[in-house]
Amino acid sequence: MTETRIQQLGKIAAELRAFKESPLYEYRVENDYLPVIGTGSPDAAIMIIGEAPGEHEAETGQPFVGAAGRVLDELLASIGLQREDVYITNIVKDRPPKNRDPRTVEVELYAPFLERQIAIIQPKVIATLGRFSMEFILDLLDMPELGQKIGELHGKQLEGKADYGTVTVVPLYHPASGFYNRSLRAAMDEDIRALAPFAG
Ligand code: URA
Repeated sequence: MTETRIQQLGKIAAELRAFKESPLYEYRVENDYLPVIGTGSPDAAIMIIGEAPGEHEAETGQPFVGAAGRVLDELLASIGLQREDVYITNIVKDRPPKNRDPRTVEVELYAPFLERQIAIIQPKVIATLGRFSMEFILDLLDMPELGQKIGELHGKQLEGKADYGTVTVVPLYHPASGFYNRSLRAAMDEDIRALAPFAG
């Protein structure tokens, strides 16, 4: 019998909980943190990918539950979506100490889990949050836009090819970028509309 998406995602979760090979595992255990695997619908048409969990996320095991998460919720609500309607995850599934950028070795270790999540959920659209996630996905899908800046690509619908078929990639600014920069927040309000055609 073929496994359901929920079963396949459950396997990933179990592997990540026991992921002692990661240099971030010890930090997780020392701080009583949880791995942040992903939330939302396994059948979602829209997959949203951030960089790595922050403190609130590692405390709760849920992606984007801090201040940036509130902005993300507002943006989704503006096109009639709740987080249950989409699937939200990160590239790196454990919190890097003091929210430093994930290291290359960490990205390489966690990337196969994200690739499996994408292959299981088979989203019609991948929205990347921030430059880091955008570059990761453009590289993963071997897209010609790799090398262009987020300032040029934000809010655009780009065409990528995944193993399961065509996937639209929409680079978005990271929701935390709008905190101190009102013009970025205005761009974010506009850019999220690129996901609206997939919201139904
Ligand atoms: N920033 C991210 O990139 N991911 C989270 O889950 C939270 C904040």
